[in-house]
Amino acid sequence: MKTLIVNGTVIDPASGLNRRTNVLVEDGRVAQIGNTPSSAADRVIDAEGLLVVPGLVDIHVHFREPGFTHKETIHTGSLAAAAGGFTAVVCMPNTRPAIDTVETLAQVLETGRRDGLVKLFSSAAITYGIEGSRLTDMESLHQAGAVTFTDDGKTVMDPHLLYEAFRRAAELDVPISSHCEDHRLVDRGALNRGATSRRLGDPGIPALGEELIIARDILFAEETGARLHIQHVSTARGVQLIREAKARGVRVTAEGAPHHFTLTDEQALISGTLAKVNPPLRTARDVEAVAQGLRDGTLDAIATDHAPHTLEEKSLPLDRAPFGMVGLETAVGLTFTRLVHTGLLTAEQAIAKLTSAPAAVMGLPVGRLAAGLDADIAIIDPQKEWVVDPQTFLSRSRNTPFGGMRLTGKTVLTMVRGDIIYDDREGADNPWPADAD
Ligand code: NCD
Repeated sequence: MKTLIVNGTVIDPASGLNRRTNVLVEDGRVAQIGNTPSSAADRVIDAEGLLVVPGLVDIHVHFREPGFTHKETIHTGSLAAAAGGFTAVVCMPNTRPAIDTVETLAQVLETGRRDGLVKLFSSAAITYGIEGSRLTDMESLHQAGAVTFTDDGKTVMDPHLLYEAFRRAAELDVPISSHCEDHRLVDRGALNRGATSRRLGDPGIPALGEELIIARDILFAEETGARLHIQHVSTARGVQLIREAKARGVRVTAEGAPHHFTLTDEQALISGTLAKVNPPLRTARDVEAVAQGLRDGTLDAIATDHAPHTLEEKSLPLDRAPFGMVGLETAVGLTFTRLVHTGLLTAEQAIAKLTSAPAAVMGLPVGRLAAGLDADIAIIDPQKEWVVDPQTFLSRSRNTPFGGMRLTGKTVLTMVRGDIIYDDREGADNPWPADAD
């Protein structure tokens, strides 16, 4: 089967390609990028006015399997990924059991291959059960395919243990991904500590709690030579700490999440617990700093921290509802609306933050669009206006504060190894199973 994508603007940030041309897909791979005539293909996809880009890469998702499949499964999570234009994801290990043994990791990777649709990579935990007391067998887990080590959702507080984890990570040349929260300072609270938390009677989560750990982990990376990746940076001073560390040559990378470059803590007044996320939505100054960090390269990648929870769980009171929001299906809309259409990033820069840059952070063999490689492709309409309707999400969960928001920019088609796994074009037959559950 030969598929030809015609008339689109083809962008591959890794090679600097950004021009109107055609992409020929044959046997699951990109056969040619150039002006191949339509007559050479069995199927033609017209991408007039659209961007044809490498399949997007999200290095921070929670697919909840094993253990929390009422929130999401690897299958429903990858449907959501496909709908967002993502063709590769890195799963977080805070499942039940946690991804802390080779057996559980192998099971997750196998389920990914079996019902994943997208390319599924996995992290593994730094400590058993994400409990912060006993190091996992990082060598074996790395050999079995773990692309990064993290206790995401929690921070490893014991400095002896953490030093040993960084030392081993340096030896393995694998990044430590750090969820930054000093649990001695941050032990309560649902929202950023400030006017909104006070108004809602919440004790608040101080920005300092995140910044202390960013500073600490930068020093661990500097001391051991390990690669450090700072997850979901949410504060202005956090961005600045990473900027300074990069300037003096520390091997640190970082990600920004769409909700952190779009919403302030005041969103909780509108969306209640749907705006409860960890780290929390912060102030307008912080939101601006995250966007600027992405602009100047301090933050390498955009990652969604897709964190599904049921609406039942989210209907608990503010202090008891879980932290987190889904993000895969709104990421492109938010990135284009907030960063590209405002002139902060060019489309090519934004695509880099969603493809080649996150792939480089984790050393993944994805995020490129070039002849000879797998045809993992997203087609994006940068001008498409749409209103976020959580009812239409393919994720099993609908916990988003973005419902009803008007966005400009949307994924219209997603392909993995040449197979269309999402198609939102007019009159298209959607290829996903009718029962997304
Ligand atoms: C994450 C989750 O739900 O797993 N929630 C979140 O708010 N980001 C865990 C976490 O990172 O705290």
